[in-house]
Amino acid sequence: MDPGRGEFLVAATDPLLQPYRLRHLTLRNRLMTTAHEPAYPEEGMPKARYRAYHLERAKGGLALTMTAGSAAVSRDSPPAFNNILLYKDEVVGWMKDLADACHEHGTAVMIQITHLGRRTRWDRGFWLPVVSASHRKEAAHRAYPKKIEEWDIRRIVTDYADAAERMQAAGLDGIELEAYGHLMDQFWSPLTNDLDGPYGGTLDNRLRFALEVLSAVRRRVGPELIIGVRFSADELLPGGLTPADGLEIARRLKATGMVDFLNVIRGHIDTDAGLTDVIPIQGMPSAPHLDFAGEVRAKIGLPTFHAARIQDVATARHAIAAGKLDMVGMTRAHMTDPHIVRKIREGREQDIRPCVGANYCLDRIYQGGAAYCIHNAATGRELFMPHEIAPAPRRRKIVIVGAGPGGLEAARVAAERGHEVLVFEAAAEAGGQVRLTARSSRRREMMGIVDWRMSQCAARGVTFRFETYADAEDVIAEAPEVVIVATGGLPQVEALESGNDLVVSSWDIISGSTAPRSEVLLFDDAGDHVGLQAAEILAAAGARLEIMTPERSLAPEVMNMNLVPYLRSLQKLDVTFTVTYRLARVTREGGRLLATLGSDYDSVRAERRIDQVVVNCGTVPSEELYFALKPLSVNLGEVAHDQLFAGLPQTVRSNPRGTFQLFRIGDAVSCRNTHAAIYDALRLVKDL
Ligand SMILES: Cc1cc2nc3c(=O)[nH]c(=O)nc-3n(C[C@H](O)[C@H](O)[C@H](O)COP(=O)(O)O)c2cc1C
Ligand code: SF4
Repeated sequence: MDPGRGEFLVAATDPLLQPYRLRHLTLRNRLMTTAHEPAYPEEGMPKARYRAYHLERAKGGLALTMTAGSAAVSRDSPPAFNNILLYKDEVVGWMKDLADACHEHGTAVMIQITHLGRRTRWDRGFWLPVVSASHRKEAAHRAYPKKIEEWDIRRIVTDYADAAERMQAAGLDGIELEAYGHLMDQFWSPLTNDLDGPYGGTLDNRLRFALEVLSAVRRRVGPELIIGVRFSADELLPGGLTPADGLEIARRLKATGMVDFLNVIRGHIDTDAGLTDVIPIQGMPSAPHLDFAGEVRAKIGLPTFHAARIQDVATARHAIAAGKLDMVGMTRAHMTDPHIVRKIREGREQDIRPCVGANYCLDRIYQGGAAYCIHNAATGRELFMPHEIAPAPRRRKIVIVGAGPGGLEAARVAAERGHEVLVFEAAAEAGGQVRLTARSSRRREMMGIVDWRMSQCAARGVTFRFETYADAEDVIAEAPEVVIVATGGLPQVEALESGNDLVVSSWDIISGSTAPRSEVLLFDDAGDHVGLQAAEILAAAGARLEIMTPERSLAPEVMNMNLVPYLRSLQKLDVTFTVTYRLARVTREGGRLLATLGSDYDSVRAERRIDQVVVNCGTVPSEELYFALKPLSVNLGEVAHDQLFAGLPQTVRSNPRGTFQLFRIGDAVSCRNTHAAIYDALRLVKDL
């Protein structure tokens, strides 16, 4: 069967690839990305980087991209995570460029618009007080709002209409009003509406603001522009909106005749934990709210969209085939692989890079300033990092030492460039620290990072030599043209003033090489996942555990949503959390250990008597091989940064006697994380 005919058959029979008619708009298939602000705007505008990000998904065959996420209609809705500012006229030109570029590739473009209400902070932008339908603070952003007055309401209703008009002028196909956790549903929910009079009390009153917004927007943009509402039809909170309330709200929205689609959410987002149930992280069930969204669709009969951890094509296909949804959101899945639709069409589903639910993307919009995917380093860097690797001008022999995430990414990219690739790995299997991570059942999905690369490497003939602790001689014997050292690191266990021989590392606990004792002090100086993973294992084994950090907060490298599952399990296991203390030394005392503590803040001293001390102090690079090879290399290990960032091949030749180029990536250089190792590999090897 020729590929053209194969593609035709897939397109004709796959429920996901059937077009969908939304009023006058034909969406070319059933896959969309729902609103997700990746925090890429510059001065509040969606400029070249933003456009390139959406364009990549359009080229990949996506039917509909809901741009932005929480784009702000008013000045007193300051950007909580670098959102687009819709109250500025200059946004029209930028959004037009984006929409035109996506339309050219057949993708419809809409935008989510909102007023964040209390879900932001007053100390951004114009330093205006945040407004809501009560004075109640939102836990996640910690702002105490001003109780909204009628002149605020009039102003904000007009702001919505102005923003919608701007987006229509930019040529967008539609808009979506955000009504979960934002101002609109802060009016709706009895938990956040303390108003009397026309906007508080009865459901009619609580809906008044939303209906005024809808009317003002419709009046301004006319009948053509598509308008939808993304709302929580069940807040899952005592005293909050129930499913019956949600359905009633949906009925009333439909009855206005002004709403063209619903985008169904279940849950609440006012806390990190609530947000994590709405946007589930790895280890949580797949598609937890799909059936609920299907019920809303069945009962209301409006076109229905939904996204929440539908990360694989089979589940998405089921959502359409079973009539649960009209459009399926695969949002994070497209951050991991923007070419999902194209790969389905080409019968290459096995090549889709899987979203492993790490939520590194989401956590970074608050803590890192921009969303990056843990294992696709090209996402958000489309202007200078490729999602598809170009062939090299000449096939070279590349030896890679280490099959952790960095080494495997180097092998994948090198093989895609057409090089001959040999990988040495000391362990019996690939994965490095990711394999250690995946020992915790909740984080098993991380193996997708390894498994996908292994299958891509297998398809391109990469040779692996496992259980081979390669030394310089082994490497030289292969007569390589390029050597990449990706040997990773080993736990740092020399971090104390004294007593280093009396402690074990977090890796010892996770790997199972050391059994937990009864009373344990875990000193977490790295503040990363490894520390908390070890803590979960210790506490689950029955240890009385104290987690101690010299920082002012727990595990800062883990970030907001990733902390949620750890805290849920550790709180149940009655673990003690101690901040701002640093483990200084450990000595023996009878059959037990005495831990002496200090602090970075003052000269305080404290003590703990325990059975076991576990330290989590990052890794030290495994760099012996690199230094053994360095004098034999042409570049003495040097990376020319100018060339690296200009996307040019590396040409340093500082050692005329050298016979190969030598590079080092990932934790073999310094202790960082999975994304850093993969990015190190991609940006270097794409030009080798
Ligand atoms: C980086 C990021 C930012 C997001 N920002 C928004 C937002 O501003 N508004 C919104 O309604 N949803 C937002 N979301 C949620 C997504 O629309 C979607 O509901 C969520 O990612 C679950 O779908 P998925 O499992 O297909 O990724 C965001 C998601 C991500 C990953
Ligand atoms: S960081 Fe994790 S959750 Fe986010 S897109 Fe990448 S794999 Fe998916």
